[in-house]
Amino acid sequence: MAAEKIEAYQRLIKVFPRKKLISRPTPIAEMESLNREFNGPNISIKRDDLTGLAFGGNKSRKLEFILADAKQKGYQTVVTWGSLQSNWCMQLAAAASKIGLKPVLVLFKTYDLPSTYDGNIFLERLLGAEIIVKDSPVRGKSLDQEIAFSVLQELAEKNKEKWPHPYLVSVGGSTTGGNLHQPLGALAYFSVIIELMEQLGAENMPDYIVLATGSGGTQSGLLVGAKALGLKTKILGICVSDRKDEFQPVVERISRELVNMLGLEIKIEPEDIILFDEYLGPGYGYITEGIAKIIEATFKKEGVVLDPVYTGKAMLGLVDLLQKNYFSKEDRILFLHTGGTPALFAFREKILSYL
Ligand SMILES: Cc1ncc(COP(=O)(O)O)c(C=O)c1O
Repeated sequence: MAAEKIEAYQRLIKVFPRKKLISRPTPIAEMESLNREFNGPNISIKRDDLTGLAFGGNKSRKLEFILADAKQKGYQTVVTWGSLQSNWCMQLAAAASKIGLKPVLVLFKTYDLPSTYDGNIFLERLLGAEIIVKDSPVRGKSLDQEIAFSVLQELAEKNKEKWPHPYLVSVGGSTTGGNLHQPLGALAYFSVIIELMEQLGAENMPDYIVLATGSGGTQSGLLVGAKALGLKTKILGICVSDRKDEFQPVVERISRELVNMLGLEIKIEPEDIILFDEYLGPGYGYITEGIAKIIEATFKKEGVVLDPVYTGKAMLGLVDLLQKNYFSKEDRILFLHTGGTPALFAFREKILSYL
C-alpha cells in the first residue's frame, strides 16, 4: 500500500520541472550524545546541511523546482530579498549562477551586523551576485511581503537594462507572489517525506520531525507529505522569526495551496500546525547565550555544526522540550538540519561573547 502511494506521488511530482542541484538522499545519523543524555526518546538527525550545493541547506531543495520554473518560462534574472546574512539569498545565488540565471539580492538590515564581505555575503560576492543593501522598517522579524515586493519591483523597473527578464521571488521561496505562482518550495519538502519513507521504511518513520521554521515552506511541505501518506508523524516547527499566532496562518495557507496544487484529498486542520515560539528570544537574527552554548555543545559532542539563526534556535527548542518531557520515552524524533552554517562566521563575535 505504502509503495503504491509512494509511486503515485512520485509520478505527481514528476509533472513539475526540476533542475537537479543536490545529492539525494541526505544522510541520517543517530544523535548519540543526546540519546545518552536523555536515555528516552530516540533522536536522530537528517543532514540537509549536506545537500551538496554551496554549503548545503533546505533552500537548495526548493531551488530545484523554483529555478527550473524560472528557466522553463524563459526568465534570465532572479531577484529576491532576505536579511543581511540570508542563507536563502546565498543558496539562490549559487543555484542561479550554476544554471545560467543572473542573481540579484536585496539584503535588508533586520539586525545589527555590518554588511561586510563575511559569511554568506562573502560567498555571494564570490558568486558575482548583484547585492543591494537596504535599511529595514522592522528589526528582529520578517519584513512584510508586500513592502518587500514593492521595493523589488521598483528596483527591477529602474534596472531593466541591466537585469533582463526578471523573475521576482519571495524570501525563502515559500509563499507565492511575484513570479512564483505555485508553492514549489513546499513541494520540495513534500518530496522529502517520500525520501524518508524510502530511507527508513514506512514502519520506521519518526513520530516527530523537529525543524526551524522561518518562511514556512519546509514545515508546510513536510506536513502535507506526512498527511498525504497517512503517517502519524507530527511536524514540529520552532519559530525563528515570528510569533506563532502571526505565523500559523502562513503555514496553513502554504499547506492548503500545496494540497490544491497536487489535487490531494486531505484537509489541513489548524491543530496539524505545531509551532513553538518560546525560543525566539529578542527576535530573528539575534543571538542569545542559549544559542551560543547549544552551537558549542552540539559541535563538541556530536561533531555537527549548527547555524546561529535557524538550526541553533531549533536545537535549543528540541533540548528544552526533551528536558520538559514533552516527548514520550518511545518517541522517535528526527531533527532536520536545514543548513545555514556560513552565517556562523559573520556572527562570530556575538557568539564568542557568550562563551
Ligand atoms: C538554514 C535555514 N533553516 C531553516 C529555514 C526555515 O525554512 P523555511 O523558510 O522553509 O521555514 C531557513 C530559511 O528561512 C534557513 O535558511
